[in-house]
Amino acid sequence: MADEGYSKLPMQDGDFPPTSPTSSTSNKAARRPFLWFALSVLALALLSLASLHPRSQEQLKRLSHYTIGRQYKTAVGPRSYQHLYQGCNLTELLLDLKQSRIKEDAPSKYANFTVTPYAPEDNPPPPFAGFSFDLETCPPPHVFTQDEACDLIGGFGALLLSGDSFIRHVWDALLIFLTNDLSGAVIDPKLRAQCRGEQLFNDRQPDNWDVISPCRTGIYDVLESLPETVCPGRPIRGKRFVDLQWTSLNNILAYTSALPAAAQKLSPILLFDGGIHLGYDLNIATTNFIHPVLDFNQHFFPHFVPIWQGSHAPGENIATPYYSSQGPAAVKNFIEGIDRIMDDHKKLYTVAEGGLQRMEWYNATSGADSFDGQHYSYQVNTEKMYTLLTVLDLVWHEIEAAGGLID
Ligand SMILES: *[C@@H]1O[C@H](CO)[C@@H](O)[C@H](O)[C@H]1NC(C)=O
Ligand SMILES: *[C@@H]1O[C@H](CO)[C@@H](O)[C@H](O)[C@H]1NC(C)=O
Ligand SMILES: *[C@@H]1O[C@H](CO)[C@@H](O)[C@H](O)[C@H]1NC(C)=O
Repeated sequence: MADEGYSKLPMQDGDFPPTSPTSSTSNKAARRPFLWFALSVLALALLSLASLHPRSQEQLKRLSHYTIGRQYKTAVGPRSYQHLYQGCNLTELLLDLKQSRIKEDAPSKYANFTVTPYAPEDNPPPPFAGFSFDLETCPPPHVFTQDEACDLIGGFGALLLSGDSFIRHVWDALLIFLTNDLSGAVIDPKLRAQCRGEQLFNDRQPDNWDVISPCRTGIYDVLESLPETVCPGRPIRGKRFVDLQWTSLNNILAYTSALPAAAQKLSPILLFDGGIHLGYDLNIATTNFIHPVLDFNQHFFPHFVPIWQGSHAPGENIATPYYSSQGPAAVKNFIEGIDRIMDDHKKLYTVAEGGLQRMEWYNATSGADSFDGQHYSYQVNTEKMYTLLTVLDLVWHEIEAAGGLID
């Protein structure tokens, strides 16, 4: 301990009188006892500091870097299950996800929109079919149990999802998973038989585009209103916001400022997207979604953890009127533009400093079965949901490593 502290001690000019080449030998000899005395006092002081203080020098450095006054930059609460995902850090996993490819035998290639007949008492989701994409260097994302997910989500201030139907579908998959019920996302008992499993992801009738599924509404929008059997003993908080034209920071803040005081001390997660309802216009997306969130986050403590959900690949069967504005070329162009904006930002801020992360889905969905060319199945959204939780596991550890774990 003392050695470590000593070797890291900054030796600056002026700590001791500089030994000038013209100094006489006698002067040097006279200084030596003082030097030894000063050094032993210092060593003793460091030794006692180290033994009194349970934190290592490294931790102290992190803490002093990390707090602003007594306010944490980002903060998380304790968890029981830790390091659920190992083998890659956050940066590596997100990069690998962006560059991944769909597998030859990917389960997402064959969406089955026929749902088994409804049995209210026995309505669990089918076992997870595995991930459809191969990561080049990282292990596949972690497949969570409900206990692990509750524990993780409860370690953040709240889980906030803001955006369009692509965000809603991840929310739907999360609700099905957390409730362990294919109908678990819908509130209205009359819709339970109809709006379950794959039918939640089937936003329009394939044979009639004008018919919108009633399953788009009537789902739980707030995690706190889920049945008490969900996450027993571990309060989780979160809300979904329908934000097609811009990210509604006012609505988001109205929700977070009404959270219990203990939850307000922890960083909320904000998964958000946008673009398709703006014809994938990069300037509007920057002005309405990304910059407002980043600007706001610099002044909000503890910071949010903002995560941009990148657009998935449009299906080959996308309807002709949408092809030029929402087809593969337009979407790729949009993603490249977002890449440039985010890369600039990322140089400045890590996730523990409130920096923006992005989860890219284009490659990981390219080749999957999309019934309308825009939306994807329960399978794809369950993959997105487990990947999000895996990312949150890594985010939690980065914030913890930076000194942001509070009780
Ligand atoms: C993640 O791993 C990469 C090496 O692949 C490294 O450069 C980077 O610093 C790591 N990030 C953190 C936060 O440890
Ligand atoms: C798809 O992956 C390649 C690398 O394999 C990468 O260069 C490209 O940017 C990715 N495309 C998108 C849209 O993210
Ligand atoms: C689709 O799912 C239904 C209900 O589970 C099942 O009866 C049917 O055989 C499946 N179809 C295919 C092609 O797998």
